[in-house]
Amino acid sequence: MTNTKKSIHGEWSSRSAFILAATGSAVGLGNIWKFPYITGENGGGAFVIVYLLCVALIGIPIMIAETMLGRRGRENPVHTMQVLSAEADADKRWHYLGWLGMAAGLLILSYYSVIAGWASAYVFKAFSGSFFGADVTAVEQLFSDFVGNPMQLIFWHTLFMVATMLIVARGVGDGLEKSVRILMPGLFILLALLVMYAMTTSGYFQGIHFLFSLDFNKLTGNAILIAMGQAFFSLGLGMGCVMVYGAYLPKNISIAKASIVIAAVDSLVALLAGIIIFPIVFTYGLNPGSGPGLIFETLPIAFGSMTGGWLFGVLFFVILVFAALSSAIALIEPTVCWLVESKGITRGLACLQSGVVTWLLGFCTIFSFNIWSDVKIFDHTLFEALDYLTANVMLPVGGFAIAVFAGWMMKQQHSAQELDIPSQHYQIWLFLIKYMAPAAVFLVFLHVMGVL
Ligand code: PFF
Repeated sequence: MTNTKKSIHGEWSSRSAFILAATGSAVGLGNIWKFPYITGENGGGAFVIVYLLCVALIGIPIMIAETMLGRRGRENPVHTMQVLSAEADADKRWHYLGWLGMAAGLLILSYYSVIAGWASAYVFKAFSGSFFGADVTAVEQLFSDFVGNPMQLIFWHTLFMVATMLIVARGVGDGLEKSVRILMPGLFILLALLVMYAMTTSGYFQGIHFLFSLDFNKLTGNAILIAMGQAFFSLGLGMGCVMVYGAYLPKNISIAKASIVIAAVDSLVALLAGIIIFPIVFTYGLNPGSGPGLIFETLPIAFGSMTGGWLFGVLFFVILVFAALSSAIALIEPTVCWLVESKGITRGLACLQSGVVTWLLGFCTIFSFNIWSDVKIFDHTLFEALDYLTANVMLPVGGFAIAVFAGWMMKQQHSAQELDIPSQHYQIWLFLIKYMAPAAVFLVFLHVMGVL
């Protein structure tokens, strides 16, 4: 059976529209905010290599699988898994995968929106000239005063959630597609300019060395899990979001090619962010492992001292907010899609319901930077615990299940038909999805649990 039905939410108008939107979902805070700081915390080069290997050997095959499942099922992740498990004569419980993904999406969005709120606030800080001539102490003070004030964080988090809900309420074509068209080219131009700036700093080579030197002694088991989790997070995998985007994908688009392009662009943006941040870190004697504040404590120094820094600062944070928006809409889309399809409510109401839940959850992250900074779960603040649980546990488990379903449950005739690629390429994908990806995720988990 080929599913010729179209999604009720509309379809991408062209191949480039899909690639743009999927890239918009992939490229976000994960690349520019998270990748540099976790690379800094985990020692640099060796971590980056493990991350890139995870993208190539686990991420891309799973991205292809997840998009394929979405396009074949053409519905929200829960229903898609119900339809596909029936088609494959597999256990009905596979649809719990859809639930896991939706839960991960909302949990991620709850803290994602808070950090995107920081970026929004920094647009105004840049605009008002706060970075002008600022030294390390001034920039660090600016950041710690800001995150220490819960009311400010609540304000920006609220604003970001409202913007996300308004865009999602308008639906696929209008809302999602248009916002990415201007964003991606703008992001690349700014990153290129900032790379040029980084090349003029005295710490450039030290920064590059940190990012690309292979010192495997610094690599712990937990760092490998974090690198793998980051591959899932950055590509937006394992939570049904790619599945939903796949559901809006017309038949004539090659899923494999699109996935490779998206993964390549996504990794490039992360590496560029690293090439920009670490030279600044070393030029100014900052600590690469300083955590989630890293970009907010490094980039303002650069903007404060470079020619045209005011304009670049404003533009950079504006673009970062837009990159975060195009990811945020992807994080909430599976839940909205499920609410509309299964509860029969309007898109607007579905956005409101899921948005309010996420907004409230966001308070855990906000308070973990100030009034609840002492509240710890296994030595982690609430924000760290949420991030660890979602990126390093839920997404890899979701990705593992997607790989097992696509590789072992689904009939090969169906996956081959859906992917429609030359048979040699199909065999490579099948090997990766059947053996490589599940085994890699499993081994990393065993390693972290101390079994290996
Ligand atoms: N990939 C996004 C980023 O790197 O910022 C975050 C994200 C978006 C994760 C969508 C998961 C997702 F489904």
